[in-house]
Amino acid sequence: MTYCSTPGKVILFGEHAVLYGEPSIAVAINRRFYCDITESKRDRTTVNGYPLARRYHSYIVECLNKLEVEDELEIKTETELDSGTGMGSSAAITVAILGALRKLLGEDISEEIIAKDAFSVEFDVQGNASPIDTSTSTHGSAIMVSEKKEKNFLWDVEKEGRRWNIHHRDVPDLTLVVGNTGVHSPTPPLVKKVRKFYERSNFAKEVIRDIGEIVRESCVLFEEEDLEGLGELMDKNHRLLSILGVSHPKLEKLIKGARKYSYGAKLTGAGGGGSMIALTDRPDKVADVIKKKGGEPYVLDSTDKGLSYHGGKEI
Ligand code: PMV
Repeated sequence: MTYCSTPGKVILFGEHAVLYGEPSIAVAINRRFYCDITESKRDRTTVNGYPLARRYHSYIVECLNKLEVEDELEIKTETELDSGTGMGSSAAITVAILGALRKLLGEDISEEIIAKDAFSVEFDVQGNASPIDTSTSTHGSAIMVSEKKEKNFLWDVEKEGRRWNIHHRDVPDLTLVVGNTGVHSPTPPLVKKVRKFYERSNFAKEVIRDIGEIVRESCVLFEEEDLEGLGELMDKNHRLLSILGVSHPKLEKLIKGARKYSYGAKLTGAGGGGSMIALTDRPDKVADVIKKKGGEPYVLDSTDKGLSYHGGKEI
């Protein structure tokens, strides 16, 4: 049996721009995905007792294909990461399943290998993605992805002529509140929408570059633990994302409400619905406002703990 868990993530700065060579920062959060894999005594692979089916378990099917697993397995999962909330559930599933499979097969379980495979699985399932989610879920703490190699470099990732350098970042203890709008908004159509705008407009290219500038500034503020400065940058990053057309009236409502009790707030992830995030030292107030405005709040802390193996405990 291998039992392991992975954290979710939230993107603090640089979503979308990271697909155009700009940097991005995500932080691992204290909500996790758990899985436990054993060889099955039955003649088919099951997930939580149900037969494995691509329709319901697309990420798990791709993980099994990636590692060319042919044995029948019993896979059990539990999650604290609701899907579609911007907290990185698909990356966490992918990293945990690959980590557990590799351990079960007696293969290399180094972070770099698992993170690279996980990125490749996400890319195959989603069509276009950066390695920010899967790297953060594997490594924990915070990850800065950039075209340029910088200090605390971990590994690099290449895909279709693009290269991302993955870096560790220490982050101060952050209290974050995610507000889920409840508006279902898959990532691929938003990535396509921004691509169209980017390809047709120099103005969009400038906006993407400005987002990159914000991410670079935020790196300095993280080191200085300047929460006020970081909050201001979140507000600025959000304005630029709205210009790119990936906000939503419900996101605007939650963000406006949350800002009264926060250092700053912005959408997180692909946008178009999905979730916003606020950096605050008054999480209860922010959670109340989000609820009053019709959103679902999640109060989160950052965590250092990435992919972890646990001995003996079964789900
Ligand atoms: O929807 P999420 O939380 O996986 O975030 C998507 C972020 C994008 O920059 C739009 C795409 C990516 O893979 O980086």
